[in-house]
Amino acid sequence: MREQLEQLRNGALQAVATASSVEQLQDIRISMLGRKGELTALMKGLGSLSATERPIVGQLVNTVRDEIESALGAAIASAQEKVIAARLQSERIDTSLPGRRPQKGTKHPVSLVIEEICSIFSGLGFAVAEGPEIEHDWYNFEALNFPPEHPARDMQDTFFVENDMLLRTHTSPVQIRTMLKQKPPVRIIAPGTVYRCDSDATHSPMFHQIEGLMVDTKVTFGDLKGILTVFTNQLFGQKTGVRLRPSYFPFTEPSAEVDIACVICGGKGCRVCKNSGWLEILGAGMVDPEVYRHVQYDPENISGFAFGMGIERIAMLKYGISDMRLLFENDVRFLRQF
Ligand code: PHE
Repeated sequence: MREQLEQLRNGALQAVATASSVEQLQDIRISMLGRKGELTALMKGLGSLSATERPIVGQLVNTVRDEIESALGAAIASAQEKVIAARLQSERIDTSLPGRRPQKGTKHPVSLVIEEICSIFSGLGFAVAEGPEIEHDWYNFEALNFPPEHPARDMQDTFFVENDMLLRTHTSPVQIRTMLKQKPPVRIIAPGTVYRCDSDATHSPMFHQIEGLMVDTKVTFGDLKGILTVFTNQLFGQKTGVRLRPSYFPFTEPSAEVDIACVICGGKGCRVCKNSGWLEILGAGMVDPEVYRHVQYDPENISGFAFGMGIERIAMLKYGISDMRLLFENDVRFLRQF
């Protein structure tokens, strides 16, 4: 039995020494020391020994068990340490590596132009005003001197919502809303989204306008021309030529369309300006007395001008964009350039 014990001990220690994982070591413990283990089986044989031999061999069994137990304990501890060390190694974070920067967006060219125009006009003393995109017919047409059957309503391809509601076709209703809210002097600029049933390379059913309105006691057409000249010079450069052409809007009289010298060819004539050398950028005029009556202003004592321009068109001219649809597709490769 001593020999058997000796063999078992050597075998066990050998197995512990060569085991390579915590699991293997635990299997060894079970197969040696477990309830059905080899050492346990040997111990059951103690009963057949003589009374003198039994305590001696019993002692030996205990020693062998302790030896195996402590070898196992040490081996398991070191195997666990190795597992932890390996994990630390593989999951190590190199804090000296540069971080991954989140991609930064850029401002949309339409937003850039709105911001720039608002900033130019705020330098001239204009405050920013706003109005709703779903508008009442009265603000969008009626108060602006488009009577119900007026053919001028056909100039603007309106999206009607229901009853007398529609998607505003221009930012001019903000003029009405502002004048109803405050007494003169008024000096506002109103950027916003407008809608017209129209779509091609130079028209979009949804686009942006900026409206301007200045009303005071002695505002003249000269003021209108002066302000718009300062504005176009700041936006397109000091030497940009400006001209006013007579035009018609129901809510201004007299009315004008404002052209700048073509920013592409400098006025020589090219495809963009259709060989005229000029580009139309806004509509303007002196506020029609009929409009003042709708907002209870006294046309005898006050005067003023209004103007309105399409932002997409200005963005296209400023940045040399040939197709308006690029401004709405929102392809980041395009947008990133601004
Ligand atoms: N609202 C006009 C348009 O959309 C532009 C405009 C505004 C003209 C103000 C004159 C005065 O065409």
